Amino acid sequence: MEVIIDKTPEISSANAAAEIAKLLKAKPRAVLGCATGGTPLKLYADLISMCENGEISFAGVRTFNLDEYVGLGPDDPNSYRRFMDENFFDRIDIKKSNTRVPDGLAKDIPAFCSEYEKEIKDAGGIDLQILGLGSDGHIGFNEPSSSLCSRTRIKTLAPQTLLDNARFFGGNADAVPKYAITMGIGTIMDARSVVLLAFGEGKADAVAKMVEGGISAMLPASVLQMHENAKVFVDEAAASKLANIDYYKYVRSMRP
Ligand code: GLP
Repeated sequence: MEVIIDKTPEISSANAAAEIAKLLKAKPRAVLGCATGGTPLKLYADLISMCENGEISFAGVRTFNLDEYVGLGPDDPNSYRRFMDENFFDRIDIKKSNTRVPDGLAKDIPAFCSEYEKEIKDAGGIDLQILGLGSDGHIGFNEPSSSLCSRTRIKTLAPQTLLDNARFFGGNADAVPKYAITMGIGTIMDARSVVLLAFGEGKADAVAKMVEGGISAMLPASVLQMHENAKVFVDEAAASKLANIDYYKYVRSMRP
């Protein structure tokens, strides 16, 4: 795991965007795994700017989103499909038909989940998966105790996640859907590379456990210690509880 610490979320996001731009230049038909939440917003804004100024293009890119709330369709302002369209897809040159977000209205959820896994495989697998980090260490909506080998499926959201996400539902945790369809941890681990972003003091505990704790289903993101190509972009606040913070900075300064 490469830990890349910068002063502010803005700088971290720009560095993560540069990583994605590098991939798209090398592989214009790349498959991107996308995440929602507040954390990647600046990253998406940077990618939109790069697309607008012609530095990168998404014309050949396919995307698969991590998750979606069960019961929310694309017309719901709180659906992740709507979030992605408004904050990213509608503002870049991607073909909308090449973007996939799990269907929160799927009638047969297990069948939908198998199909989603198959679509990812048929697309050649995910080249780069963007991830945020839940304050309880979840990735996607894989809550603590999720199998580290899990595939796309329905999950019951943890009470902490309902509280964390209440801000998107007018501050009302009761309004947050209780279930979500999420790529599994095994699905995420299959991505050829992973870029995780985490900002702010509220993420510092989860970041420290993810990077320096034992690998455990109780902190799903810790499984990334087993990923061959995982980069963690954190600001100083999110990095503040890392015991080896000086070493990560030293390693970065020594990069040839
Ligand atoms: C949500 C999403 C995750 C996201 C996480 C952190 O529950 N399912 O994909 O990474 O919470 O959200 P935020 O970036 O808003 O802190």
